[in-house]
Amino acid sequence: PAPVDPRTAAAPTLQALRDAARSCRACPLWEPATQVVFGEGPAHARIVLVGEQPGDTEDLTGRPFTGPAGQLLDRALAELGIDRAQLYLTNAVKHFRFEQRGKRRLHRNPEAGHVQACRPWLARELALLQPEVVVCLGATAALALMGRGFRLMDERGRWHRLADGGRMLATVHPAWILRQQDDAAREAAYAGFVADLAALAGVAS
Ligand code: URA
Repeated sequence: PAPVDPRTAAAPTLQALRDAARSCRACPLWEPATQVVFGEGPAHARIVLVGEQPGDTEDLTGRPFTGPAGQLLDRALAELGIDRAQLYLTNAVKHFRFEQRGKRRLHRNPEAGHVQACRPWLARELALLQPEVVVCLGATAALALMGRGFRLMDERGRWHRLADGGRMLATVHPAWILRQQDDAAREAAYAGFVADLAALAGVAS
């Protein structure tokens, strides 16, 4: 279970939780980042999507999935007839982790310690939302919610149970699709992503 954290436990609403997260110093990622990128979406959302961490665009806009990975996610949702505005989108880690190379900020994967430090925020978001379904986008989200033993590529596209009893579906991360070597590989990866997310059709309607 996620550790009980007095900062998150005391927040009675998502807005209060979001406000409290601004002063989080539980790991060093807050310092170079522009801002916390907290989850967003309706408090009554039945589906919660959990990504890895904000990217360069999200760090600047302050909103999850607003960069290239978010655009690919939007395309998949549109293809499936799922309205993004009905979903709550969040991340396992709420600050952008990057390496500065000249003017560019290169994404770095969060470490298990960053995921661990950020878990109370995600746990409290889910406790307040009580969604019917949680979707893990990629291995970091799956690590945060299912622990180390979860093998994403074996377990993707099927329903799982979360510790709190809710249903969970895991699939690849849209940024992983964008990183595929060529068009054919990208198209195959994207088709697999859409096929996994198609399991949401009944929930989203
Ligand atoms: N990738 C993520 O995992 N989350 C975002 O919000 C953006 C990109």
